[in-house]
Amino acid sequence: MDYIESKRRNDFTRKIALAAGATALFIFMLKWSSDISVSTKFSTHEPGVTHVLVTGGAGYIGSHAVLRLLKDSYRVTIVDNLSRGNMGAVKILQELHPEPGRLQFIYADLGDAAAVNKVFAENAFDAVMHFAAVAYVGESTAEPLRYYHNITSNTLLIVKTMAAHNVKTLIYSSTCATYGEPDKMPITEDTPQVPINPYGKAKKMAEDIILDFSKTSDMAVMILRYFNVIGSDPEGRLGEAPRPELRDQGRISGACFDAARGIIPGLKIRGTDYKTPDGTCVRDYIDVTDLIDAHVKALAHARPGKVGIYNVGTGRGSSVKEFVEACKKATGVNIKVEFLSRRPGDYAEVYSDPSKIKNELNWTAKYTNLEESLSIAWRWQKAHINGYDN
Ligand SMILES: NC(=O)c1ccc[n+]([C@@H]2O[C@H](COP(=O)([O-])OP(=O)(O)OC[C@H]3O[C@@H](n4cnc5c(N)ncnc54)[C@H](O)[C@@H]3O)[C@@H](O)[C@H]2O)c1
Ligand SMILES: *[C@@H]1O[C@H](CO)[C@@H](O)[C@H](O)[C@H]1NC(C)=O
Ligand SMILES: *[C@@H]1O[C@H](CO)[C@@H](O)[C@H](O)[C@H]1NC(C)=O
Ligand SMILES: *[C@@H]1O[C@H](CO)[C@@H](O)[C@H](O)[C@H]1NC(C)=O
Repeated sequence: MDYIESKRRNDFTRKIALAAGATALFIFMLKWSSDISVSTKFSTHEPGVTHVLVTGGAGYIGSHAVLRLLKDSYRVTIVDNLSRGNMGAVKILQELHPEPGRLQFIYADLGDAAAVNKVFAENAFDAVMHFAAVAYVGESTAEPLRYYHNITSNTLLIVKTMAAHNVKTLIYSSTCATYGEPDKMPITEDTPQVPINPYGKAKKMAEDIILDFSKTSDMAVMILRYFNVIGSDPEGRLGEAPRPELRDQGRISGACFDAARGIIPGLKIRGTDYKTPDGTCVRDYIDVTDLIDAHVKALAHARPGKVGIYNVGTGRGSSVKEFVEACKKATGVNIKVEFLSRRPGDYAEVYSDPSKIKNELNWTAKYTNLEESLSIAWRWQKAHINGYDN
């Protein structure tokens, strides 16, 4: 009896162990096969599907680009090392498109040649949108090597790796800062590029590397020189959330929102005696939704061996005073403004001539409107006091 009882128990235990083992094996195989099928989607070219590598896709502009690319049925790989971007933005994008083969995130440093080579070896990209960079003029003057490293040298590495892996299309994020302070307005693509700070110089050098290389290859290249980017996703899914420590480096829209929230006491307008209609600096603001539309059009028009260089702006300047008025209306807060003397290195007036991109890519700014763009961005800011952390 005792013996039989114990044998039965042993049999039972053995059966349980066997069943558990089989289940574990089954789960393992299921996971393994789904990993394989997920990775094949990214690692092989599929007819009719364009796979875009978005560097800096966790950042402000890059995340908005990914949102649009996914909506338009592109396959997207983000590479970012989160030094300035937000994993929260990537999570939102992944939740919107959980289907296998739509979006993958790879944590890697674009200054690390071995890591970048591995990304290109394991994935089949059709195009690269290269957003990743550091992007504050003031910081670039204080830490020039950070800029030459993370802009110029990292772009060189991207171009070399694209060539080695035969990736044929590059859309590059450049900036109006490459023009410096031209005497003639508006700025056309033929305006001489004489950058006056390390940020603009690093971007100009990166452009030169791309352009010289393109003369020796059939790579399709589109260089977009953005003016001042504002706004965020009209549906409120994404926003601009720079690191708190970069706040004083920040751009005017960030400062306006911080003032509206009471994080800073008010806005300091530096320089009221410029030769402009109201004495304050004039800039060409472009909504991020319009900017990303220019990228999608650039990608659609990219052709082997061809280079396209385009200004992306509205063609109309707005003064700092106008900007602050729009921000007051957008936020409903009567932001305190202090007028100070000029800051060295600021130029009076910068605005684009966007006729080339209109004629060649059929792109015009449709969404940009200071008050409306700032209202949309403010809605997200108000709902995300701690950026993507809440
Ligand atoms: N914001 C503007 O007004 C403006 C104007 C003109 C041009 N641009 C250009 O647009 C691009 C995007 O700017 P943004 O405003 O979205 O900046 P951002 O800082 O929000 O995004 C940059 C992203 O790149 C990532 N990154 C930086 N260095 C990296 C590295 N070594 N390895 C991996 N990832 C790295 C950061 O983590 C971040 O997610 C930049 O190239 C910038 O120069 C921006
Ligand atoms: C991101 O990359 C830079 C080099 O460009 C590196 O110095 C930094 O430590 C990295 N940051 C993170 C969080 O990995
Ligand atoms: C940029 O490059 C410098 C090295 O010059 C590095 O220390 C820094 O972490 C890099 N990354 C960023 C985001 O600044
Ligand atoms: C240009 O874009 C507009 C929409 O913005 C579209 O209606 C028009 O057909 C386009 N023109 C060409 C030539 O593609």
